[in-house]
Amino acid sequence: MPLLAIETSCDDTCAAVLDGAQVLSNVISSQADHERYGGVVPEVASRHHLELAIPVLDAALAGADVDFDAIDGVAVTAGPGLIGALLVGLSTAKSIAAPRQLPLIPVDHLHGHVAANFLEPDPLEPPFLCLIASGGHTMLAAVGDHEGFEIVGETLDDAAGEAIDKAARMLGLGFPGGPELERLARSGDPEAFSFPVAMARDPGLDFSFSGLKTALVYICRDLGEEQTRDRAADLAAGFQAAVVDQLVTKLGRALDRGDWPAVALGGGVAANGPLREAVADLCQARGIRFKQVSRELCTDNAAMIGSAARFSRPIPYPDYLGFDAFATGPRGGR
Ligand code: KG4
Ligand code: ZN
Repeated sequence: MPLLAIETSCDDTCAAVLDGAQVLSNVISSQADHERYGGVVPEVASRHHLELAIPVLDAALAGADVDFDAIDGVAVTAGPGLIGALLVGLSTAKSIAAPRQLPLIPVDHLHGHVAANFLEPDPLEPPFLCLIASGGHTMLAAVGDHEGFEIVGETLDDAAGEAIDKAARMLGLGFPGGPELERLARSGDPEAFSFPVAMARDPGLDFSFSGLKTALVYICRDLGEEQTRDRAADLAAGFQAAVVDQLVTKLGRALDRGDWPAVALGGGVAANGPLREAVADLCQARGIRFKQVSRELCTDNAAMIGSAARFSRPIPYPDYLGFDAFATGPRGGR
């Protein structure tokens, strides 16, 4: 029986319909408005979710060729994320579930990124190590079962995507910066400028990206506006290489500490080509499986929330009427 899933934790309004691990439709509406501000503005995001929720839901149902009557459960991201944005999704989910007394399944957003790997085709079975790198999070998740994960390393300051977005902005690129930075970096020399290798000597599994960002600020300041513009491709290539290097170094170190048969990626930064290539090389060298989901399933989407919902606790009607979203807090999926 089809499950409806809704995700509105940041700036993408997403709805999906799933039949078990099969995605019947997966609709993502990105809010272009934030480009003007060079980042996500929480209030603008909430307002857009309000406007987009119904058209996106309609598109997801139409794409799956089902109507509301066919849905037998509603999954929704409960947190972490922007509270106003989350509340739109949660209220929408409740208002669909309650009149028909359907169960509501609240999902941890990060569990969603992990669970994108459980979807057809070719679902990945735990145990595996999952590197989640997005605009809001950067962490290494040890996935021992479908129901949750354990964080074994995480960023001490900026998320990888946040640092990439800020670097892109310094180089005059639009928002979100990741795809544009990747494109620009293709024509640049990653060794033209030297960026610090952050946390290289730190024996732990945590990440840090704020030093990289500061390094770019100083390089751009020394170059001046015109030179920065002329050398933007080299700067993008060097910055991207430094981010990828840190992510892959820590991933390799985490693999050294356990007997992991597989690696997966999640979060928007996992759409990055050079990161995927570097992780593929790492896995090949170690003879372990590298599960790659499509780029659409890496960035925020509702199919991953529906996937996690299959392994999360449903709340029966009417117990969820007072259930609230959370901006920060429970992580680990359970
Ligand atoms: O997971 P996501 O869609 O939303 C959050 O939960 O944050 O991730 C968005 C982040 C942004 O910082 C964006 O610049 C980054 O993922 N991103 C990329 C690429 N595509 C998206 N970063 C590097 N390379 C890309 N191709
Ligand atoms: Zn995300």
